[in-house]
Amino acid sequence: MQERKLKHPALAASYERIAKLSALPLWEIMGDVVGDAPSPMGVPHLWPYAEMRALLMEAGRQISAAEAERRVLALKNPALDRPGISQTLFAGLQLVMPGEIAPAHRHAAGALRFVLESDGGYSAVEGERCIMRRGDLITTPSWTWHDHENTGSGPLIWLDGLDVPIVNFFGARFGEDHPGDQQPILRPDDASVARWGSGLRPDGQRHDHPWSPLLSYPYERSRAALMACATGTPDPRHGFRMVYANPLDGGHILPTIAAFLQFLPAGFETAPGRSTESIVFVAVEGEGVARIGDVELAFAENDVFVAPNWSPIRLQARRDVVLFSFSDRAAQQRLGIWREEETAH
Ligand SMILES: [Fe+2]
Repeated sequence: MQERKLKHPALAASYERIAKLSALPLWEIMGDVVGDAPSPMGVPHLWPYAEMRALLMEAGRQISAAEAERRVLALKNPALDRPGISQTLFAGLQLVMPGEIAPAHRHAAGALRFVLESDGGYSAVEGERCIMRRGDLITTPSWTWHDHENTGSGPLIWLDGLDVPIVNFFGARFGEDHPGDQQPILRPDDASVARWGSGLRPDGQRHDHPWSPLLSYPYERSRAALMACATGTPDPRHGFRMVYANPLDGGHILPTIAAFLQFLPAGFETAPGRSTESIVFVAVEGEGVARIGDVELAFAENDVFVAPNWSPIRLQARRDVVLFSFSDRAAQQRLGIWREEETAH
């Protein structure tokens, strides 16, 4: 209480005695607890792929995937004092070199992988190999075993997105290594795509988890769906945007994380708006400019950038742009606190 200007300085002596009992006079700090509107946490920032890739490849020469357990450059928001691309999300660029295996483990944090470069490889998730091709989205729900292998002749690089800060906020962090480098494979490759990804579902088969049973969303399918729907007038706020959906109920892919694929035709600029979620973007195709708050970020293919919560966002396509993004919207909607609004600029 000493640092701040008191609203009722005459009560300072009482406040001292209140503080000694580890209590606070709420009437002095009301705005911090239930204030009028949120402030963005963290700052908008872009990680240029060419430079990040060069450092990742350097790490590839310095440390093996097995030694590192995960050879990841974690993207740290410059305004936060702990790992995390935003207050709620962790993101990193991961490299597996040809012939390497990232050993099997599992953890309470849920994850997604968005593949940026692949000449062959897979992420094995809970007994199933999810083949990794550029643009594929693969999920690793909470506490599922996962290991990765590069079976190609070039680097395998993807963007990791995890709900680590959310899990840690709740104090629910657990993790363990698998006894083997690789978990046993129990089903055919991409079995979840065959089983849950066709618009039909296996009759009588239950899926009693709060995440999508579809572990892989191949880019070929996602892009085709997006482009088939990209007709008529684009939505002023989002252009043409699709949500990666749980095929059972239309919900988000993970209980905490939502993911989106978005097409902005060349020359299109979105109307400004903001929401309470933090959003991580990857430019899959094309180039453009993101104006987030007061910051202008020019993006090109494979660049990653972040928009903190409640930051006005405008996206402009210089060429046809396809953006992948993920956010904490799923968690916020489950909690009933998600909100969005249009803004003046
Ligand atoms: Fe992991």
